[in-house]
Amino acid sequence: MLHVLNHPLITHKLSLMRDAKTTTKDFRENLDEIAGLMAYEVTRDLPTKDVEVETPICKTVTQQISKEIVLVPILRAGLGMVNGILELIPTAKIGHVGLYRDEETLLPHEYFGKYPKNLQDAVVMVVDPMLATGGSADAALTLVKAKGAKQIKLICLVGVPEGIALIEKKHPDVDIYLASQDERLNENGYIVPGLGDAGDRIFGTK
Ligand code: PRP
Ligand code: URA
Repeated sequence: MLHVLNHPLITHKLSLMRDAKTTTKDFRENLDEIAGLMAYEVTRDLPTKDVEVETPICKTVTQQISKEIVLVPILRAGLGMVNGILELIPTAKIGHVGLYRDEETLLPHEYFGKYPKNLQDAVVMVVDPMLATGGSADAALTLVKAKGAKQIKLICLVGVPEGIALIEKKHPDVDIYLASQDERLNENGYIVPGLGDAGDRIFGTK
């Protein structure tokens, strides 16, 4: 299922990130803040279990989150979303999947993978700012499923119909969360209007 958050705070911060004049520092800070705001929405349906606690007044039964959370950023750009989500879920474990998109073919290439144990029992959140052709997200979702992940959410900042359609077709079991749905891909596979190359803007590599 696709969830487009379209929240004024998120849209405002995203507009700052879209601006080509925004510095690396401000780009990073806004990405961090948006990831935190998105985490609030994305965690709305986390499973809970009853627990008994003793307040200063009496015993009571209340609820705590019952499943472990695993974040899986797609390197590099996904790293820019990790700290913002950890602010809300400081106990989350973190896996890493290294993928880069070939500039000619636009196909993803895997160069790294390291995951916590017991993905099958966790809620796994794959994070990457950009959902363009969807090739990288598709590869990351296939990899975490091969490691046992069953309950998976894909969290991206900006996505386009092409990428959304690929993930919905190949991973109908995965919930997709976007801050914004953009128009289309251009002839170079970049999102329009988008925000440019997310990895380069986060790490200042161009
Ligand atoms: C970007 C982005 C996604 C991918 C999206 O990464 O962060 O991972 O492209 O494109 P797709 O949907 O067409 O696969 P990139 O490959 O540029 O690597 P980087 O994060 O290291 O810059
Ligand atoms: N990857 C990016 O970083 N930006 C795009 O617009 C598309 C893919």
